[in-house]
Amino acid sequence: MAKMAASMVDSGEDAFRKIFKFYRRRNPPPDLTGVTDFSGGEPGDRVSGNDVEASRVGLKPVREWRAFGLQGYPGFIFISNPFLRGCQAFWVRQCLKTYPQKPNICNLDMHMNPSETQDIWGQSRWNFIFLTYKENRNTHTLLEKLRWVTLGYHYNWDSKTYSSSSHTPFPSDLHSLSSRVSAACGFPGFQSEAAILNFYRPDSCLGIHVDESELDHTRPLLSFSFGQSAIFLLGGRRRQDPPTAMYMHSGDVMVMSGQSRLLYHAVPCILPAAAGRSALEAEGPVPDPDPDRDLRDGALPEPVSQEDWTVCRRYIQTSRVNVTVRQVLEPGQSLPETRACSPQGTAAAAADRRSEKRKRSSGSTDSVHTSHT
Ligand code: OGA
Ligand code: MN
Repeated sequence: MAKMAASMVDSGEDAFRKIFKFYRRRNPPPDLTGVTDFSGGEPGDRVSGNDVEASRVGLKPVREWRAFGLQGYPGFIFISNPFLRGCQAFWVRQCLKTYPQKPNICNLDMHMNPSETQDIWGQSRWNFIFLTYKENRNTHTLLEKLRWVTLGYHYNWDSKTYSSSSHTPFPSDLHSLSSRVSAACGFPGFQSEAAILNFYRPDSCLGIHVDESELDHTRPLLSFSFGQSAIFLLGGRRRQDPPTAMYMHSGDVMVMSGQSRLLYHAVPCILPAAAGRSALEAEGPVPDPDPDRDLRDGALPEPVSQEDWTVCRRYIQTSRVNVTVRQVLEPGQSLPETRACSPQGTAAAAADRRSEKRKRSSGSTDSVHTSHT
């Protein structure tokens, strides 16, 4: 990998783009031997925190987390699946059933009326429960058409800004999870003010970008991954800097803070689970009863019903969900109020512009949202 990266830098301007294309390639499939896999490595001593608080959001005691740094990337922390067995199911269910609900905003709102996108889960779940899932069937449920959801301050893909006029309450459970993780990584008092959920189908990717729309860059950016695995490319401050490739598996958490907060990054491809069931499918929705855990009743996230789990399990058989949580403002700071407009009006225009952009770029690219690129 180091050799490949070096030869690419020599040959041209944008080393990141070349490596992105290398991992995006289908035929022949790319050589993955240089991809860092934290799930097997030796963790460092980077996190500390309160174990009972962690269990309330479905996380293992902090002292059991396997947290890694990456040489050359100060402030980047990779926590290899810190979730208690059975507890990821709760977060997958929230991402598929709860967070896409109004008043949150999703890609389907760009072209559909709020009444049509009111109950994405309810309109889709029977297909997952009763129909045999076929990759090639030509009608897709709304759940399968979901590409992104925004929470809190709703990111405006067009202007790449947040605004005080487009804000809805941030889910308190996701804030609890985020504040636990950020506190354990040395950032107490994290305010979850915006989140973007990305929903990846097998051919999806996420283009090369920096998350710089937030006004406070001293706070970390948190990323939670569920379902299928993916490759994550972490670059430098400049597009010419060749990125490091790493696997993201279900349950993995990444923290981009300090000097790593504003680095270029991208997701060039989703990696289907090896033959058989993915680790998360095998895990199921029921928390492992562990007699050694000192937990009070009700200290775990609420259990997921078998019916909800059936829908989630079938969805993640082919898909990946990523949640990035951001603090937008410094304490006491406020956002400018941009021209208030209905999500419909501007959003439809923005979506049209985005599809234009997609046509101009590589035709086969199914990017979860192109405006990042
Ligand atoms: C983002 C992002 C990474 C991922 O939404 O800004 O970088 O793993 N997501 O999906
Ligand atoms: Mn990002």
